[in-house]
Amino acid sequence: MEMRLKGKTAVVTGAGGRIGIAICSRLAAEGAAVVCADLTRENAEKAAETIRSAGGCALPCRVDVTRSDEVRLMAETALGNFGSVEILVNNAGGSAGLFRRLSRFENTTEEIWRRVIDLNLNGTLSCIHALLGQMIEHQYGKIINMSSVAAEKGILDRVDYSAAKGGILSLTRALALEVGQYNINVNCISPGMIAGAAAIPHQGTWLGRSGEPREVAALVAFLASDDSGFITGDNHTIDGGRVLGVRFHPRKEK
Ligand SMILES: NC(=O)c1ccc[n+]([C@@H]2O[C@H](COP(=O)([O-])OP(=O)(O)OC[C@H]3O[C@@H](n4cnc5c(N)ncnc54)[C@H](O)[C@@H]3O)[C@@H](O)[C@H]2O)c1
Repeated sequence: MEMRLKGKTAVVTGAGGRIGIAICSRLAAEGAAVVCADLTRENAEKAAETIRSAGGCALPCRVDVTRSDEVRLMAETALGNFGSVEILVNNAGGSAGLFRRLSRFENTTEEIWRRVIDLNLNGTLSCIHALLGQMIEHQYGKIINMSSVAAEKGILDRVDYSAAKGGILSLTRALALEVGQYNINVNCISPGMIAGAAAIPHQGTWLGRSGEPREVAALVAFLASDDSGFITGDNHTIDGGRVLGVRFHPRKEK
């Protein structure tokens, strides 16, 4: 594999989840040292161990991204160990899987929507805030935020999640305006349905399948590398064509 990220340090939040672990592995395979940050020590260790067993460099870090004091500590740990952080992947997030619920907005509670906004939107803001200063100082940075097709299209019974991911899309664009002058790229990825390790048949996409975490990870690696140096403030949808609209015809015509 091409070592596009050699000499770079990446912080990846939500490192031990389905997509997070694939991102960590891919960034490390391309030469980055990866701080695997996750809410549970177990998940952080799992991501770091996956990297190390493949010969890469990883540091597990437990963090709750909704706690700015813990996020600051995560940044200090990363900087203390590696000197600088060039790549920040704000991947921690979620909704139904995490909170075990899908519900009409009228039935949701303020406590739940605050938690969803805190995890997805405020967590992203907090991590950026903790690491942006040193990126500006070094005149280099790649910030990649995980949004969702929910931001553009909305998802039924996930008003809070859709709003949080929409906020991530908007913050990506606004921040890109502010920090482009410091050679910092800010981009956003909007996945559609990404299954476990392997794709599963899915009629909601034009490819007839769900996405795989490694496919999202490949896009992250591209945005983290200098191959995407002229791309900023952009939303990168990765959804098998789902946002193009509903399928009305059977896929096989002959
Ligand atoms: N899987 C999909 O189909 C899909 C689609 C669109 C967007 N996304 C987005 O991609 C990202 C990753 O999704 P996933 O499917 O891998 O999720 P996942 O639930 O498999 O993993 C999430 C990870 O984040 C960690 N986490 C949870 N709360 C945290 C906190 N407060 N601080 C730090 N870490 C925390 C969890 O421990 C877990 O390891 C999320 O932002 C999600 O919203 C996923």
